[in-house]
Amino acid sequence: MEIHASVDALRATLSQLRRAGKTIAFVPTMGNLHAGHISLMHQARGHADIVVASIFVNRLQFGPNEDFDKYPRTFEADCTQLRQAGIDVLFAPTEADLYPEPQTYTIEPPDIQFMLEGECRPGHFRGVATVVMKLFQIVQPDVALFGKKDYQQLMVLRNMGRQFMLPIQIIGGETVRAEDGLALSSRNGYLSPAERAEAPRLQRCLQDIRQAVLNGEKNFDALCQKACTELDSHGWQTDYISIRRQQDLMPASPEDHNLVVVAASRLGTPRLLDNLEI
Ligand code: PAF
Repeated sequence: MEIHASVDALRATLSQLRRAGKTIAFVPTMGNLHAGHISLMHQARGHADIVVASIFVNRLQFGPNEDFDKYPRTFEADCTQLRQAGIDVLFAPTEADLYPEPQTYTIEPPDIQFMLEGECRPGHFRGVATVVMKLFQIVQPDVALFGKKDYQQLMVLRNMGRQFMLPIQIIGGETVRAEDGLALSSRNGYLSPAERAEAPRLQRCLQDIRQAVLNGEKNFDALCQKACTELDSHGWQTDYISIRRQQDLMPASPEDHNLVVVAASRLGTPRLLDNLEI
């Protein structure tokens, strides 16, 4: 695996590969890799000749009171996993490589950036869209893969790619879960053993909502409220549980098809995100 921090060095490598007719799949990450990331890497292999991964903890997408400084950085272990997964090229820039000057030009997603995660984390999706646009300009992949656990992020990036007519196919990878149902996330490492045992309740609540909707329950607000109450009575602080339309993440009504229930709730230190399509 070739590892580059410098934008110029990475561009030189990739343009040589492109000239040789190779197609490129790209998996951007913030590191601290787990089986969810690795499953995206394996999927990427099926879509192109060369798989490029990136590791960059992007300050721009963290709020002032969020965990940017504490975010787990495990570069050596990540490289071992990437080598085992057969990744061809790793782009691991420093902040000075990727942001050599203050980033005053930014990508401003539309109203979707203000709902759900965006309401709880103002500026988050501007930071995500801006760094991903930069990474896309540098890597110029044919295909890029993102996990469906960050459902809203995937939608923001898909819409960005479509509206800017980027010649990049965006693929969503299924959420990878622990045996007890907890969605894998780098932030799960913040859970104490007792919290880790409690954490699968979030997915169980989403399963219950899904089952109730499939059984014909039409009072979506009551369903979500019941799940919030259950979580919060077990020590969670729920930001939202909401049944939305898959197509645009707008609040769903019982007449809509293709729904997704999305949730974010804090358990001890971490805020856990999960979702389930219905
Ligand atoms: O999902 C992530 O890890 C990040 O938001 C991403 C897409 C790598 C951008 O920093």
